[in-house]
Amino acid sequence: METGLQGKIALVTGSGRGIGKAIALALAAEGADVVINDVNLADAEGTAQEVRAIGRRSMAIRADVTSETQVKEMVEQVTREWGGVDILVNNAGVASVLMVEDMEKAEWDRVFDVIVGGTFNCSKAVIGTMKKRGGGKIVNIGSIAGIRTTQFAAANYAAAKAAVLGFTRQLAYELGPYKINVNAVNPFTTVTPLLLAISPPGMLEKLKDRIPLRDLNKPEDIADAVVFLCSERARMITGTSINVDGGVTLEVGGVDWDAYVARRKQALKERTRSQDR
Ligand SMILES: NC(=O)c1ccc[n+]([C@@H]2O[C@H](COP(=O)([O-])OP(=O)(O)OC[C@H]3O[C@@H](n4cnc5c(N)ncnc54)[C@H](O)[C@@H]3O)[C@@H](O)[C@H]2O)c1
Repeated sequence: METGLQGKIALVTGSGRGIGKAIALALAAEGADVVINDVNLADAEGTAQEVRAIGRRSMAIRADVTSETQVKEMVEQVTREWGGVDILVNNAGVASVLMVEDMEKAEWDRVFDVIVGGTFNCSKAVIGTMKKRGGGKIVNIGSIAGIRTTQFAAANYAAAKAAVLGFTRQLAYELGPYKINVNAVNPFTTVTPLLLAISPPGMLEKLKDRIPLRDLNKPEDIADAVVFLCSERARMITGTSINVDGGVTLEVGGVDWDAYVARRKQALKERTRSQDR
């Protein structure tokens, strides 16, 4: 697939590791030069080195997306050194595990500041350069938690991810006339080293049984959807989101699908047998 990403300048937040890193490498593999942003500079440097190994330019920038000043300075640096930004992926995120009745307001704010505030700060900072360059692509990493629920207690996370989708729609409406597409990708549980480290043994295998495609996401599955939305193949797509979830949002809940199928097959067999008689 010709993506038209050759020579584009991409900025991926939180790309020192995990899904963001996979997105950065996938964009580089399509020919983009990639700015690696993270609060962890050592991780960012590591991803930048891997991008360079693919043969594209890369710079690692330590900036906290919750800081409007640091984000502005980051975009100014990229514009000074490379001329501007064509693609922004708002990926930086933090998780939460507290029930609402145990949650301090500061914990509510911490998650909102990174996920919603960070997405706002970075999007706002690139609008000027994208307009000057005649267009651009913004992809926000949402979550299935933003349209359904999460298996971890995290109402602040679910609400923040839902807010990201509202922001995506409205920003797409505002920026459409400037040929700036704004979309989101909603991952379901994605196997990152971090997830493997915190999951009790057997939990991920059990989770697979609830997913129609019977598999869990790899970070590369999310990256493929992002590459598509950043490509010219998605020229007329804006203000929407793609679920990368193996079909898990199709579930109505409480259905033991395998047992249901077995019952239906048995009933059909019995009917055929009685017709034969
Ligand atoms: N892994 C999953 O199952 C899953 C599912 C749905 C959505 N997501 C979303 O995907 C995105 C990436 O998740 P991940 O699993 O790779 O997480 P991760 O924790 O492995 O990576 C997140 C990265 O963001 C960086 N970061 C955190 N706060 C930051 C800040 N204020 N400024 C700059 N960088 C910051 C971290 O240092 C880290 O490198 C997040 O938005 C997350 O909510 C993940």
